[in-house]
Amino acid sequence: MEILFHGKRALVTGAGKGIGRAMALKLAECGAEVVAVSRTQSDLDALKKEHAKIQPLCLDVGNWEVTKNALKGVGPIDLLVNNAGIMDTKEYGTYTEQDCDRTFNINVKAIVNIGQMIASDMKARGKGGAIVNVSSALWDSP
Ligand SMILES: NC(=O)c1ccc[n+]([C@@H]2O[C@H](COP(=O)([O-])OP(=O)(O)OC[C@H]3O[C@@H](n4cnc5c(N)ncnc54)[C@H](OP(=O)(O)O)[C@@H]3O)[C@@H](O)[C@H]2O)c1
Repeated sequence: MEILFHGKRALVTGAGKGIGRAMALKLAECGAEVVAVSRTQSDLDALKKEHAKIQPLCLDVGNWEVTKNALKGVGPIDLLVNNAGIMDTKEYGTYTEQDCDRTFNINVKAIVNIGQMIASDMKARGKGGAIVNVSSALWDSP
């Protein structure tokens, strides 16, 4: 089956490594312009070299205000993939409030923050769109 995204713009978070990187590249190969969001510039530089349709955007999605400001100028997005996520590998019973805040900021709050910005724009443009949220465990099971 051939799926093409010519004329579409996608935004993938956590595109610097792993699943997000693979998704960003595949979407670009299928014709989409891809805004690749991650927090390590060297990962984004390497990704950009692999496909001309990749537009890197270096930011920490766990920072609500920084993310809001960065995405204001991102332009129309037809497909959002909220993929950035972390897994804290500390032993259960040793988590601090800061550990929990960090995980919630990235794995939960960023999805709301980015999702509602992009969804509002999709709604205003009246052309629909798609949002994919990649789920994650919050931490290892006890
Ligand atoms: N791999 C699995 O088996 C598996 C299973 C279930 C769910 N998942 C979920 O799938 C998603 C991707 O997993 P993965 O294994 O591909 O992860 P990964 O290899 O660790 O890659 C995650 C990418 O997201 C970036 N990232 C993390 N926090 C970020 C933040 N606050 N702001 C911007 N970018 C951030 C990382 O950048 P840095 O490296 O620079 O931090 C990295 O480029 C995650 O949500 C994960 O929880 C994965």
